[in-house]
Amino acid sequence: MERNRAMIVVILLIAEVPAKGHILDVCATCHSNANCDDKSEGSGKVCNCKYGFVGNGRTFCQDKDECQIDANQICGQHTTCQNTYGSYYCTCLAGYSPSNDMAVFIPNDGTHCQDNDECRIAGSCGAGAQCRNLEGSFDCSCQLGYQVHNGVEPFHPPRDKASCKAKCGPIPLLAQTEVMWHNRSVVIYRCVDGYHSWRGSYASVCGSSGVWLRATLRCIEIKPPVNHLSVLNEKCLHWRAEKYEEDEEVYKVTYIGSRDYERSFHDRGKRCLSSKADQLELCLNLLPVTNYSISISALSSRFTATISTNTSLTVPPAPVVYYREFETPVPTLRLRRSPNTLDPISLYQVFVLPVEEIMMFDCSSPVSSDISIKIKSSTEYITAQIDVGHVRTDMNFTVGDGLYYGGFFNAPLENGRNYYIILRAVSQWKSALKSSCVLWAKVRGTSYVLRVSSLSAAAAIGLVVLVILVGYSFNWFFKRT
Ligand SMILES: *[C@@H]1O[C@H](CO)[C@@H](O)[C@H](O)[C@H]1NC(C)=O
Ligand SMILES: *[C@@H]1O[C@H](CO)[C@@H](O)[C@H](O)[C@H]1NC(C)=O
Ligand SMILES: *[C@@H]1O[C@H](CO)[C@@H](O)[C@H](O)[C@H]1NC(C)=O
Ligand SMILES: *[C@@H]1O[C@H](CO)[C@@H](O)[C@H](O)[C@H]1NC(C)=O
Repeated sequence: MERNRAMIVVILLIAEVPAKGHILDVCATCHSNANCDDKSEGSGKVCNCKYGFVGNGRTFCQDKDECQIDANQICGQHTTCQNTYGSYYCTCLAGYSPSNDMAVFIPNDGTHCQDNDECRIAGSCGAGAQCRNLEGSFDCSCQLGYQVHNGVEPFHPPRDKASCKAKCGPIPLLAQTEVMWHNRSVVIYRCVDGYHSWRGSYASVCGSSGVWLRATLRCIEIKPPVNHLSVLNEKCLHWRAEKYEEDEEVYKVTYIGSRDYERSFHDRGKRCLSSKADQLELCLNLLPVTNYSISISALSSRFTATISTNTSLTVPPAPVVYYREFETPVPTLRLRRSPNTLDPISLYQVFVLPVEEIMMFDCSSPVSSDISIKIKSSTEYITAQIDVGHVRTDMNFTVGDGLYYGGFFNAPLENGRNYYIILRAVSQWKSALKSSCVLWAKVRGTSYVLRVSSLSAAAAIGLVVLVILVGYSFNWFFKRT
């Protein structure tokens, strides 16, 4: 009985073994590189290989080589892919560096590989060489005055053993020049803009002794040989001579003057001057109210400068009159005109001034061609206006002959009154007016005895008695005595 019970227990124990095996934990069977996950349908567990491993999760989970896929696809451009047990990482190819200074990186962290500019690192190519950056690399060639040793150009220093050795060294630089042409042994220079070659040789040559035979070219700033040209006081030319040598320069000055109011007028002149001076002056005899164009040529440098200038109106010369005193009411007065080049814009005006208590005569008063406008003084009047161009050398003019002169009535003089006759020469151009006056005659009525002490002395000479300059209002007072 006892034995049976023991057997049953054994049987039960044996019978229990398979029953127990059915409910055993699946997770216990997972590979060490696997995780035990819940089944997706929700009942029970399943072994899955960990990230980076492939297999059935139980008997094998082996490392997956991610880098078998194209590195460019997995890590990006210019990279290499490194597989590790269960993972991988990326590095940049030689000549490239990661954008974030991390030596290694994994994709998706934003890092990419960019070209290194090796030329920014001083000495990449060695002395005397010129560095050229390339995509992922660089190369070197020799500068002027250096030549390549142990190789050919272009070379790449770590790879090739080539280097640049000074033959003559860096090319010599000259002031105000630029290199126009060169090969390994000859450099040709030219002056930079605004400078011109003065003297010296144009080429530096790398001699066989290994030194540059320097060019001796000198460049000097170009300045016009006639500079700062100006006209002073409407007559004197001033200029600065820019010379490169101490030699004497010959200047030829030509001028031509023209006038709007006188088409036939041309004032031409020519002057020569030779001088070593730096500052020059030449005074010309320019005529008034004329537009001039003046050219000045420096003969040796074949340079011409031109300046335009105009001259202003000058006081017209008063004619020469023969002062006389008359007792007749129709005196004939004489004048001899003065030479004047302003004839087309000049007039003679004859004024009659009845002698009164106080007399004033303004020589600079404006010319009124409208005779209906009375001259401001009540009694003085213009009795005649004559274009100077119509007067020959001499003229006889009779006051009070009852004729019209230039639109003015030459009215007879009243008997018994005293008059002064004044001759005014007027030149007028645009808004400018200049005039000069002379006392021409005194006409005496019988009832007065005139004494003009200050004038009589001059009058006795019988020439110009009174010249009143322009811009100068002259008031003339007399008193009846
Ligand atoms: C450079 O140019 C000069 C003149 O044309 C010539 O004589 C010389 O041989 C050239 N040197 C080299 C290295 O090309
Ligand atoms: C000089 O030239 C100016 C401009 O052309 C002109 O207005 C003026 O009338 C001229 N003067 C003379 C005197 O011809
Ligand atoms: C004369 O020349 C001056 C300066 O060159 C100029 O301002 C003026 O307008 C000129 N006058 C005439 C009448 O041409
Ligand atoms: C003006 O008169 C003088 C003297 O009577 C005479 O000699 C002269 O020829 C005359 N002049 C003119 C231009 O008529």
